[in-house]
Amino acid sequence: MPLKTVDPCVLVILGASGDLTHRKLVPAMFEMARAGTLHPSTCILGVSRTKKTDEQWRTELEPWVAKQVKGFEAEAWRKFSERIFYEAGDAATAEPYPRIASRMAALDERLKCRGNVLFFMSVAPELYEPIVDQIGAAGLVTEGRRWCSIDQSSKNWQRIIVEKPFGNDDASAASLNRALGRVFDEEAIYRIDHYLGKEVVQSLLAFRFANAIFEPVWNHRYIDHVQITAAETVGVGQRTAFYDQTGAIRDMIQSHLMQILAFVAMEPPTDFSADHIRAEKIKVIDALQLPDPGRLDRFASLGQYARGPDEGAYHELKGVQAGTTTETFAALRLEFENWRWARVPFYVRTGKRMSRKCTQIVVQFKPPAVNLFRRVTSGPLSGNRMVIEVAPGESFRMRFAAKKPGPMALQDVEMTMDYAKAFGVEPVEAYGPLMVDAMRGDQSLFKHRQEVESAWHAIMPFLDGRSAALRSSIHANYAQGSWGPESADQLLARDGRAWFNPS
Ligand code: BG6
Repeated sequence: MPLKTVDPCVLVILGASGDLTHRKLVPAMFEMARAGTLHPSTCILGVSRTKKTDEQWRTELEPWVAKQVKGFEAEAWRKFSERIFYEAGDAATAEPYPRIASRMAALDERLKCRGNVLFFMSVAPELYEPIVDQIGAAGLVTEGRRWCSIDQSSKNWQRIIVEKPFGNDDASAASLNRALGRVFDEEAIYRIDHYLGKEVVQSLLAFRFANAIFEPVWNHRYIDHVQITAAETVGVGQRTAFYDQTGAIRDMIQSHLMQILAFVAMEPPTDFSADHIRAEKIKVIDALQLPDPGRLDRFASLGQYARGPDEGAYHELKGVQAGTTTETFAALRLEFENWRWARVPFYVRTGKRMSRKCTQIVVQFKPPAVNLFRRVTSGPLSGNRMVIEVAPGESFRMRFAAKKPGPMALQDVEMTMDYAKAFGVEPVEAYGPLMVDAMRGDQSLFKHRQEVESAWHAIMPFLDGRSAALRSSIHANYAQGSWGPESADQLLARDGRAWFNPS
């Protein structure tokens, strides 16, 4: 299917003063413009409560962009920033909308954005619903093209990108879906997950479905288990207010790791279209088995980091609730109840203040049925292992047994496909390509309403009252700079397995 062209638009960032806008969104748009991927008419209109001029916002953004973008050039930024504008107002109330609307219309007319608008919700999650309601009430969406002077016969679109967390549980996600649905069609709603913008995550689909040799062994007959790790060295830092309401499962597993899990486990889609890819993701997430609530410790390990050299213990940090049981580490043992993956555990884990920053997928294959090399190997054969590094490096590594030179003896060796070496390119900010996909109307890498609700359903037992016992001894149960609490090792040890920690 050929790529659709990238339309011009007014990109309205709601939450223009926030961290995400500074660190990710504007740098990503600059990178895309510099690469020639953005339509040259596209402009950015930032909206947030603080009063400032266009010029002041541009000046405020520059050091962030300079820091985030490799090979930053002041002159290129100056040109790009001429298309950045700002409007002050509380977007959760009706008050600023007449100003926002007339600003959008003026920009559209001057820069020829063809009546297209892409809203980006970069605000605190509790503001999503009130803002969507206001956008609807202001008539900025759908048939009523009141906000701009575009001629009625020309086709234009209004779309919205919604940042995670998408709800706080299954009920609030469903409510947010309903609120969005009252104003936007499902085809205009882009639920973003920046992990789907990562090169290696997308590459998983090519790896699995553009090659014939992996798919026949990608099932319970050949695969022993899968491990998905997203470890971070940073702590919660200044984000306690957000994080204490959220925790590692909501922040990372329900969203990012669930996306990776779906790409590893889904069936081949009928074709590479958004509808078919998303249908397969929904199917596989729906096949996740719910854990037995009476034996939740067999399915999960939760933790909070202890006091360390760089930061206090999580439960003692300023801004977290006294006696908080919010997890900064989580490891889950998930299983799919379907034909392909019967009895294959998928262990997923994530945590703050861990030993290394690393996101990786490890696919451990079963050993050969018979060990012909019993005489020369001390133990059983280890079985092939595929290590897919998502970050900070980007590579696919296949581990297999080889004969050592000389008398018969075996040794495990690796065959590597390294992105930087193979293609000679540096990774770009993951938000950029995703936002460009929204501008071209491609939803393949965005989450469908049903998928989000299914993912919440699968994860709720680890979050609600059923997880109380798991949380009872969570305080300071892992050291900063470690690989998590002991119970995470036990989770695998009980199955006769161990985590593959990157060295
Ligand atoms: C965000 C989480 O979605 O992803 C953060 O809210 C986390 O807590 C971040 O640090 C990790 O993203 P990346 O791309 O650095 O792995």
